[in-house]
Amino acid sequence: MRRDSLFRIENGEESSMRLLNFGSLNLDYVYSVDHMVTPGETLASYGMNTFCGGKGLNQSIALAKAGVEVFHAGLIGEEGDLLLDTCKKGGVHVDYIRRVPGKSGHTIIQVDRNGQNCILLYGGANQSVTKEYVDEVLAHFEKGDLLLLQNEVNLLDYVIDRAYEKGMMIVLNPSPYNEKLEACDFGKISMFLLNEIEGAQVTGEEEPEKILEILKAMYPHAKVVLTLGKDGSIYQDQGKICRQGIYPVKTVDTTAAGDTFTGYFLSSIIRGMSVEAGLRLAAKASSIAVSRKGAAPSIPEREEVEQALKGD
Ligand code: RIB
Repeated sequence: MRRDSLFRIENGEESSMRLLNFGSLNLDYVYSVDHMVTPGETLASYGMNTFCGGKGLNQSIALAKAGVEVFHAGLIGEEGDLLLDTCKKGGVHVDYIRRVPGKSGHTIIQVDRNGQNCILLYGGANQSVTKEYVDEVLAHFEKGDLLLLQNEVNLLDYVIDRAYEKGMMIVLNPSPYNEKLEACDFGKISMFLLNEIEGAQVTGEEEPEKILEILKAMYPHAKVVLTLGKDGSIYQDQGKICRQGIYPVKTVDTTAAGDTFTGYFLSSIIRGMSVEAGLRLAAKASSIAVSRKGAAPSIPEREEVEQALKGD
């Protein structure tokens, strides 16, 4: 698998920059259903699969498949071998992943006939992060390194504060959005990648333009990528706004489509691609992911994405 090195310029000289993704690792128990089960209903599923997932793991796999070197930190439980092996086989550095007593994080996912999903999340080991563990991991990183976060591990506020103190650049996918994020200082975030629902939860606005306007007013130095489902995505920074549509496909399973987008878009920034090209790459990668079953297994390799783009 091809790897691009990450570089930053310091005092006029190139030096290597490293990418850490501190995030969840989940076993996804996925049930195929005719429709989402409703309150009081007992519904027979017509298929069941176990996949590796977790927003953290999915994004690390997407980054690695996109050809970027990524170090994953996070916790697995006693039965977490599959999660560790999947990261290793996916080309992710696993030196900072630790095993703790108890169960790994897991989800119960219903996928309906239209490929839409409902996810019930059990945090498990992902919620056992300690300050000592955070300090131990961050000790391996330094000023100018990149940190990617989602909201499926505990102590996110502490991770953000310590990483910011070190001068790391922090990219946040505030997903799933919940009250724990209110403890986090979003003023320390360099880039937000979020969907329209999370955008509405952060800003209190529904319209994409309004969401972007409020985010710019609240966090003027942060870059924002807002994904809008079938309406594509919008990138915003201090100087510009870019829009990208979707590549329509037959939807089989939307699980990890957003994670694929996040990993691929971040990889494009790291590789120094233009924002327009990065959005295109990410949109194509996530269109391939929704055409396949599962979370991590649905994420395509960069070669496949680039080939598919050539065919458009
Ligand atoms: O974003 C998709 C992921 O969300 C799934 O893999 C599941 O584990 C949940 O964390």
